[in-house]
Parts: sequence; C-alpha cells; structure tokens
Amino acid sequence: MNNLWSDHVQGVMTLYLSRKLRFDDIFFTQYDKLFNLDHNKKLRILEIGCGPGALAEALHRWYPKAQITAIDRDSNFITFARNSIAGVSFVEGDATNLPFENDSFDVTVSNTVQEHIEPSAFWGEQRRVLKPGGVCLCLSARKGIQCEAPCLEMTQEEKEFWESIPQSEGELAKYGVCRFPMSEAEIALSMEKHLFTDVTTGYAIIDLTPDATKYSREMAEAMIEAKRQTCLEAIRSAHSDQADKAISAVDRKYDERLGLYRAGKKQWDTAVSVTMVIRGIK
Ligand SMILES: C[S@@+](CC[C@H](N)C(=O)[O-])C[C@H]1O[C@@H](n2cnc3c(N)ncnc32)[C@H](O)[C@@H]1O
Repeated sequence: MNNLWSDHVQGVMTLYLSRKLRFDDIFFTQYDKLFNLDHNKKLRILEIGCGPGALAEALHRWYPKAQITAIDRDSNFITFARNSIAGVSFVEGDATNLPFENDSFDVTVSNTVQEHIEPSAFWGEQRRVLKPGGVCLCLSARKGIQCEAPCLEMTQEEKEFWESIPQSEGELAKYGVCRFPMSEAEIALSMEKHLFTDVTTGYAIIDLTPDATKYSREMAEAMIEAKRQTCLEAIRSAHSDQADKAISAVDRKYDERLGLYRAGKKQWDTAVSVTMVIRGIK
C-alpha cells in the first residue's frame, strides 16, 4: 500500500479533474497529430505513472481498437481509476521495474512523470517493454498563462488558514517530486541518449477560459469546479481542525464565480497550459 503521492503531493480529484479537462476531446486533434499513431491497428498501449487515470480514459475513447494498460505506484489512484474508468486495465506497480514482458507494447506514454523518475530507469524500462519499432510518447507540462477572476482572489479566511499550517522546508523533495527536472531540449536529448530514434517534439496548447464562447456550459462549469476541488483538496490534505472556515470561504467564492458565469457576467479568467509531446521510436 503506497499513498505517498495522493496523500502528500496531489490529491485524487486535483489530478483527475484537471487532467480530464486537459485531455478533453476538444483537444484531441492536436494530440492526435503529435502522437501520430495508427488508428487501424490493435495497439497495445501502456501508460506510465497514470495517476487517477484521466489520460488512459481519454486514450480509450480516442483509440477504441487499442488495448490500454496503465500503471502507477500510488494505491489510491489505482483504486479510484479501477472504480471509475471502464475499458482500461489499471495496475499498481513501479515504473522503474515494470511487471511486463520485454517487447510487449506498441506504445508507451506518460504525462508529467519524467521529471520524477531517474532517467535511465524511466527510459530504459519503457524501451525494454516496447516492441522493436514501438513508439514512446513523453508528455510534459510546460509554462502557461494564468489570470484569475477578482472574485477568486485568496480570502482572509484562506490566508489565516495557510498561515496556521507549519510549512516544512523541502516537503515535496522528501516524496521524490521533481528530482530530475529537464528543459525542453534536455528531454529530447535524454530520449536520444537512451537509444530512442527519430525523436521529434511538438506542443499542444490547452486553453481553459470558461467565458470563451467555444466552450459548452458543461465544459466551462467543469473548469470552475476543477479549480474549486483543487483548492478544497489542498485545504483538507493539511489535516487541520481549523479547516472549516477556509472551506466555506472557498465554496462561497466558487459559487459566486459559477453565478457570474451563469448570469453571463464575463470575467475572462484563464489558464492556458502548454503540453510538450516528445516522440521517439525503439
Ligand atoms: C504529477 S503525477 C501525474 C499523474 C498522471 N500522469 C496525471 O497526469 O494525472 C506523477 C505520477 O507519477 C507517479 N509515480 C512517480 N514515481 C513513480 C514510479 N516510480 N512508479 C510508478 N508511478 C510513479 C506518481 O504516483 C504520480 O501519480
């Protein structure tokens, strides 16, 4: 049983809801071009470090003929994914010691995982389980644009709550977070160094602006709710008995944001992220 990531780094809903947006069908055309996979083949796809499973879920929709397996070492994520997502085989296990045969997958894919795992193990294990000619896809979240609605600014209650929580130095490093950060160029070079060929890079732009008319009401409200759940999960994961006031304040301000959206009072708050896709061949 390993709940380190979900208990201390990012909670289940934080990852699931944000990735559900990032891998919404509206962005599929961009990903599809960058992935460059054969839709007619019965591909065996392995997702490494799948978290609660939103990318695996999207891959199942996007490549209906494919057989998708997804692995993560966090038990909470795998339990959530197994209970919520059909059509994908979720496995609890370690990306540095994959419980799969040599040459058994056509594609390996990961999203925001490379920076947490020692490179020779990260690439080496994927190369081992890929068939000759198999495709390795490494997705990496890059900087974007953030602009907050005035009604979502941090409230006094939240400030007081966070001031009451002792911050320990190096908390995330303790859980092995981001021990191997790389620039855009370094990731591609690292893939080549680990013997992948035909390495290419590309970028998908994920624009999450609730007020933009191109988004349905359902999608716009999902953007607002994903941020609410991220805020709430962060407060709850501090395990403090002072959390109630901050939770109510967060709920109030997100209710206000939803109300403004529904009344057509545009705020134009936005979160644009760039997902880099590095693609290489075994
Ligand atoms: C930033 S999260 C990304 C999760 C998921 N890919 C997503 O985008 O929602 C990093 C994930 O890598 C997983 N992870 C880190 N090291 C791992 C390892 N050695 N083996 C398996 N999973 C690992 C963590 O448990 C966590 O779920």
